[in-house]
Amino acid sequence: MQETNICSIILFVVTVIQLSGAIHPHNIKCSLDDSPCLTKRTQKYVKDFANGNPKLGINPLDKLPLEPIIVAADNFVFNWTDVKAGGLKNAIIDNVSINMDLKTIRVLFHTDLILEFYSVLDGVLLSVLPVSGSGRGDLTLKTMQMEILFVFDIIKDENGKDVMELKTYYYGYNTVDGVISRLENLYDGDKKKSDQLHNLVNESWRIMVNNFGAFFQRKVTSKIFDAVKIFMRSRPLEELALY
Ligand SMILES: *[C@@H]1O[C@H](CO)[C@@H](O)[C@H](O)[C@H]1NC(C)=O
Ligand SMILES: *[C@@H]1O[C@H](CO)[C@@H](O)[C@H](O)[C@H]1NC(C)=O
Ligand SMILES: *[C@@H]1O[C@H](CO)[C@@H](O)[C@H](O)[C@H]1NC(C)=O
Repeated sequence: MQETNICSIILFVVTVIQLSGAIHPHNIKCSLDDSPCLTKRTQKYVKDFANGNPKLGINPLDKLPLEPIIVAADNFVFNWTDVKAGGLKNAIIDNVSINMDLKTIRVLFHTDLILEFYSVLDGVLLSVLPVSGSGRGDLTLKTMQMEILFVFDIIKDENGKDVMELKTYYYGYNTVDGVISRLENLYDGDKKKSDQLHNLVNESWRIMVNNFGAFFQRKVTSKIFDAVKIFMRSRPLEELALY
């Protein structure tokens, strides 16, 4: 009796899991050359990636903690600690395509990227504006567009099934709608000087992005790469796509 009960409970649970799997949008498989299908499907995964997947060992990609960013450029030194990158959970996936000849996955997305940090600033910015102070701050890159090209190999997993193994990646980005900066406690609270700096960053945001963006973008993309790599490696390709 006891055993029958357990059996029927297990059977019930299995059925429910199968049913919910069947109607779950993640289970619609795309053919590898169907870019519109892959694009839609990747969009559905964005929230999952943002929240992480502890079972697979994927860390949450939103409020993503980054290594300290320490930059000494000409006469200007900045040191950001307690850095967190937000906004990836709102990413809009614009295009995903897979090239099986070149073995590349190309992903194009955009979002407002928000960096929060504690910063120590010291020196002269763009050789004209002395900057000093330390405190919390944030930067928002409005409509940051990013393209990532993942390079992969097809290898066999433990069960002899084909899996995608990401080897490396390349990326490029631009910021379309400007940068909004907020830096607290600059110049010992001198508002006039602080406004002057914020104005400069506001106005000359393209220069800021070009000169300083590289110091943190790679830290963001390498986390994305790690997450996608773990995910792609976690299942045979035939479970992820029509293959
Ligand atoms: C993605 O870009 C490729 C190459 O430009 C194009 O062929 C494909 O149709 C695009 N996919 C979508 C969903 O726009
Ligand atoms: C950066 O700032 C942190 C915290 O303010 C400090 O502990 C660290 O020593 C600084 N590093 C450098 C290289 O200035
Ligand atoms: C910087 O730009 C933002 C957005 O346009 C604006 O809200 C803010 O007041 C500006 N700050 C300064 C100091 O100009």
